[in-house]
Amino acid sequence: MLLTALLGLSILGAVRAQVTVYGQIPYGQTSAAFATSTRDPNATPTATTNNAYDETRLIPPTPPEDYSLAFTLNLQAANTSVPNLSILQHGTFYGFSIEMSVVTQLMGKNSSHIKVPFLNLMGLLQQRSGGVHIRVGGNTQDFAVYVDELENGEATAKEKSDLKNPTLTPAVLYTKELFHLAASISSLVNVRWYFGIPFNDTNWRLQIAEHSQAILGDNLLGLQGGNEPDYYLSHGHRQEGYGPFDYFGEFADLINAIDANPNIPVKNMLIGPSLASGPWSPEMMWETDFINAYKDNLVAITMEHYPSNNCFVQFGVGSFVDPQRTFPQFLTHQSALNLVEPYRHTSNLAREAERPFIMFETNSATCGGLPGISDSFGAALWALDYGLTMAATNFSGALLHVGGQNVYYNPFTAPPTNQTAFNQWTVGAVYYATLITAEIFGRSNQSQIVDTTNNGLLTPSYAIYDRGQLSKVALFNFMDDPSGAHDITGTITVEGGQVPPEVHVKYFEAESVAVKTNLTWAGQTLGNKFKVDGRLKGDLNITIIPCDQNANVCRVPVRAPSFALVHLNDPTKVDEDDLPITFQTTAFTKTINTATVDPEVLATSNGQSGKERSKLGSTSFGSVSGAQGLHALLPGVTVLLAMMGGAGMVMMALTR
Ligand SMILES: *[C@@H]1O[C@H](CO)[C@@H](O)[C@H](O)[C@H]1NC(C)=O
Ligand SMILES: *[C@@H]1O[C@H](CO)[C@@H](O)[C@H](O)[C@H]1NC(C)=O
Ligand SMILES: *[C@@H]1O[C@H](CO)[C@@H](O)[C@H](O)[C@H]1NC(C)=O
Ligand SMILES: *[C@@H]1O[C@H](CO)[C@@H](O)[C@H](O)[C@H]1NC(C)=O
Ligand SMILES: *[C@@H]1O[C@H](CO)[C@@H](O)[C@H](O)[C@H]1NC(C)=O
Ligand SMILES: *[C@@H]1O[C@H](CO)[C@@H](O)[C@H](O)[C@H]1NC(C)=O
Ligand SMILES: *[C@@H]1O[C@H](CO)[C@@H](O)[C@H](O)[C@H]1NC(C)=O
Ligand SMILES: *[C@@H]1O[C@H](CO)[C@@H](O)[C@H](O)[C@H]1NC(C)=O
Ligand SMILES: *[C@@H]1O[C@H](CO)[C@@H](O)[C@H](O)[C@H]1NC(C)=O
Repeated sequence: MLLTALLGLSILGAVRAQVTVYGQIPYGQTSAAFATSTRDPNATPTATTNNAYDETRLIPPTPPEDYSLAFTLNLQAANTSVPNLSILQHGTFYGFSIEMSVVTQLMGKNSSHIKVPFLNLMGLLQQRSGGVHIRVGGNTQDFAVYVDELENGEATAKEKSDLKNPTLTPAVLYTKELFHLAASISSLVNVRWYFGIPFNDTNWRLQIAEHSQAILGDNLLGLQGGNEPDYYLSHGHRQEGYGPFDYFGEFADLINAIDANPNIPVKNMLIGPSLASGPWSPEMMWETDFINAYKDNLVAITMEHYPSNNCFVQFGVGSFVDPQRTFPQFLTHQSALNLVEPYRHTSNLAREAERPFIMFETNSATCGGLPGISDSFGAALWALDYGLTMAATNFSGALLHVGGQNVYYNPFTAPPTNQTAFNQWTVGAVYYATLITAEIFGRSNQSQIVDTTNNGLLTPSYAIYDRGQLSKVALFNFMDDPSGAHDITGTITVEGGQVPPEVHVKYFEAESVAVKTNLTWAGQTLGNKFKVDGRLKGDLNITIIPCDQNANVCRVPVRAPSFALVHLNDPTKVDEDDLPITFQTTAFTKTINTATVDPEVLATSNGQSGKERSKLGSTSFGSVSGAQGLHALLPGVTVLLAMMGGAGMVMMALTR
């Protein structure tokens, strides 16, 4: 049985085609990022026992009695003299780091079987930011082995032998299909990719570099050389005494190997040093002069870091981190400030070297995340604040890590293989942080952000400039108080200009920082666990708040807990440079896994009339010849052309 998805697209309005994408076919169980599993004793059993669906609900911290509930932000109308204003940011700021071993679970088994919910989740980000950056890698990249072919045409597979690497992640086998899969995705949604060159030893296995460059072309952003090398010694990948200078030497060796390889035409797209900032501090690495020595070969300076860990529970390593006691540490701006502090100098070094500085892999807690924290609304507020603080500290991007079924922190999780018939996808709270960040920085590539927090660490705030003008204000309330006694009011005044007659506010809300259900962004939700097809559901709800132009103030209430994005201009008014891409899903599949065509959703999507742009009635599934161009681009993909209007549309149909 095959679920066939017909997918239409309107990227840049140029190519209007439908591509057959197969989805949700049960296939051999691919590996989870972590080999061992420890169930939380308090979790309620569900259809599955995996951590990605854990129901632990922690107790929110009690808000302080005497917290100031009102504050004023004096903001400059123009970006000309704003202290500590960031570099220009892109809407692609938050992307994903997908563990190599779970690629087929999340993206599809090969280039002709792409998962539709994945495309839709990426499409939502593209609508807002113009694209998505994804890194495929992680611990599993270092031991990856190229093979010509895998059973059933899969792009990757878990190594079957007893050869296991010391971090308990099974070695990944991959074929060229991995890059064809990525290329097919890029032809449908504007995803661009980072891959990593295996670095477990210096007998360089360069096939990832060769095939990714050949197959992905401009959609390849860079190639990582070494993943958390500061842990190589303790993970047993290197001999005693291995330090920053050894890694520095190996990096030179890698550069030489690439220079000597005629199948790697682009020599200068490396990424490093990707320290975990565990055993080695960034400053220890900079003592080697890494940046200056390799600047010409580097496209980005990278680090990887998680603020907490669950390694004791997962692997018996370190000491127990108690989620309930740790929860409050995530619910304050102090967390974001602490996380960027070790990198302030590095961020300046990168800027001087004119290279982007990227947090290449991060999430709430390594070794799988923390039950009750990593997938809570609180974690979403944390990730959003952390992302904005990184942007304000001149990071150019950050990638949230995505693991398998057995981790708590995933931004998105495909249903377990044997549940695809009756369950849909699950979106983790932190996905909303990527969606909102994409919206905050938008598509102009000329957004700047500054941390304007002045009312205490439980209520951080930011001002966002776009094309030189104040355009948005972001207000957080980390406090949790259903009584309303800790709702706050942020007052905005504009210096060197005037507040607009009204502001358009989008709220990110849930009942409590502890919940994992019913999260809404401007009234819309992706759905609770096992209910996500990658479309936002519900009516868009933008709150219009009149300002007092005489007093030059706008007062914006923010309930406890929630986040408010205050648009100084009407966000539903689309300017010519900023045409949104509509990308909708409709699924016709068996049993519960059914979504039906909803013209209302199409009509209201992104504040724009889908009725005008998409000619639903004329949707045609007829196979049309003359698709050779796309066919060549997407090997193995059946390409069907359909004459559709501007709006893209994903259709899933059941065939046998
Ligand atoms: C700019 O940032 C630095 C470092 O965080 C801080 O010490 C300083 O107070 C900030 N300046 C202003 C005007 O906010
Ligand atoms: C590195 O990984 C490859 C592939 O998994 C393996 O064959 C090789 O023995 C590993 N090298 C070391 C030093 O562990
Ligand atoms: C993808 O997998 C399917 C099913 O296993 C297989 O029939 C098809 O040939 C594969 N496609 C490619 C391009 O390998
Ligand atoms: C970020 O870069 C800008 C220059 O574009 C600089 O003025 C600012 O101080 C930098 N911020 C930090 C935190 O280094
Ligand atoms: C799915 O597979 C897992 C692991 O093999 C098993 O524990 C679970 O009961 C299965 N679930 C269903 C609904 O078949
Ligand atoms: C923004 O930057 C991306 C990546 O560099 C580029 O593809 C896109 O065209 C830019 N958008 C605008 C509006 O300049
Ligand atoms: C202000 O914004 C414009 C347009 O994005 C940009 O070119 C300029 O560099 C910014 N100026 C400052 C001081 O950040
Ligand atoms: C979520 O929202 C639905 C519909 O509004 C409601 O029936 C349900 O009780 C809510 N669930 C939780 C856990 O808040
Ligand atoms: C829209 O959102 C606001 C803020 O959460 C809420 O007060 C209002 O009731 C919502 N309106 C609708 C129609 O849901």
